[in-house]
Amino acid sequence: MISGKLFERIESLRLENVTKKYGENFAVRNLNLEIKGGELLILIGKSGSGKTTVLRMMNRLIEPDSGSISINGIDIRKFDPIRLRRNTGYVIQNIGLLPHLRVSGNIGLIPKLEGWKEEKIQERIQDLLNFVSLPPQVFTDRYPHELSGGQQQRVGLARAMVMSPPLFLMDEPFGALDSLLRAQLQDEFYRIKKELGRTIVFVTHDINEAFRLGDRIAIIDNSELVQVGTPQELIFSPSSNLVAEIVDSKRKYRHIDALKVKDLAQPLDKRYILDSGLSAASVLDHMSAEGLEIALVFDSPENSGRVGLTDVMKAVSSGKSLDEALKPLPLFSPETPLLEALLRLKTGGGSIGLVLENDKPGGILFSDRILQNLV
Ligand SMILES: Nc1ncnc2c1ncn2[C@@H]1O[C@H](COP(=O)(O)OP(=O)(O)OP(=O)(O)O)[C@@H](O)[C@H]1O
Ligand SMILES: [Mg+2]
Repeated sequence: MISGKLFERIESLRLENVTKKYGENFAVRNLNLEIKGGELLILIGKSGSGKTTVLRMMNRLIEPDSGSISINGIDIRKFDPIRLRRNTGYVIQNIGLLPHLRVSGNIGLIPKLEGWKEEKIQERIQDLLNFVSLPPQVFTDRYPHELSGGQQQRVGLARAMVMSPPLFLMDEPFGALDSLLRAQLQDEFYRIKKELGRTIVFVTHDINEAFRLGDRIAIIDNSELVQVGTPQELIFSPSSNLVAEIVDSKRKYRHIDALKVKDLAQPLDKRYILDSGLSAASVLDHMSAEGLEIALVFDSPENSGRVGLTDVMKAVSSGKSLDEALKPLPLFSPETPLLEALLRLKTGGGSIGLVLENDKPGGILFSDRILQNLV
């Protein structure tokens, strides 16, 4: 039985002590890695470090010498290899289109083997060509040698998507594209990933691509896994100089896209947080005693604000209540992208925001601290 779906979705893809040697040389050495369902995991490392070998073991194009690989807890050796491969969208490093088949034949090959109706196959091919921005009326009947490298790569991507597999293994899928097309396909691809919630293992040489697309990044060096973590973890806690060099930790600002509020928020200092309803005079006493220039009022997300020392002093001398002196307080979730947070701080004219965890104050975000950390 080689047809049909092996699994609707991936809950986990786990590699345990996986080793592969060629002669005396390790291609992959004692690899332990768990990829979670719906995750996009990047494998990055120098040429020859073992990335392609890892991917090829995941769909049994190569068998490990030792260790095991399991999907949803089932050892993949229990699956028929051909069926496993048809349940896996594999984009190979050198594209590997069949030269004697037209674009339509390349994309439609597996559906045909799976016994789909011709009409459904043609419809799927048209949809996928549109999806990868190759107008079907121009490209359907071309042969691979009549396509540019980038166009071939798009066909390779369409072919990998044809069965809507729950798992994608992608070996430098955008490697042959010029930088503009690459950025475009990365964007489109990021959208598919979000819409479809597929599990994807993605090899690249390009750290910017890794930061742009990856949920987590696994750094492979010389056949071994060096560190795996979110972009933030790698940037802020590289486990070695090699990792720091690869993720370019010293120039964190380049990766601001990958950062979130939680990465640069300060722990909550309770002195800054006041209940609402206090008199301006008592707040002034408190701020003077604690040496605060600014204080935050927080009862609920709807009832919150910030005041500077001078606002409080003015309120006291003019007999106004503290509530009248409050300015809006930007509220963030720990997951808010840092750039968005900076922008909101800036447009709000303030330099401080409150981070809420489960609707309660959990941290403080200072824009000057963000800037200090980024340059
Ligand atoms: N069939 C093979 N026979 C012998 N050695 C091999 C074979 N396939 C791979 N290797 C070796 O195993 C190591 C890992 O190769 P692999 O193709 O996994 O590297 P990679 O990280 O994908 O490199 P690249 O970034 O250049 O694609 C390399 O040293 C390679 O020379
Ligand atoms: Mg490779």
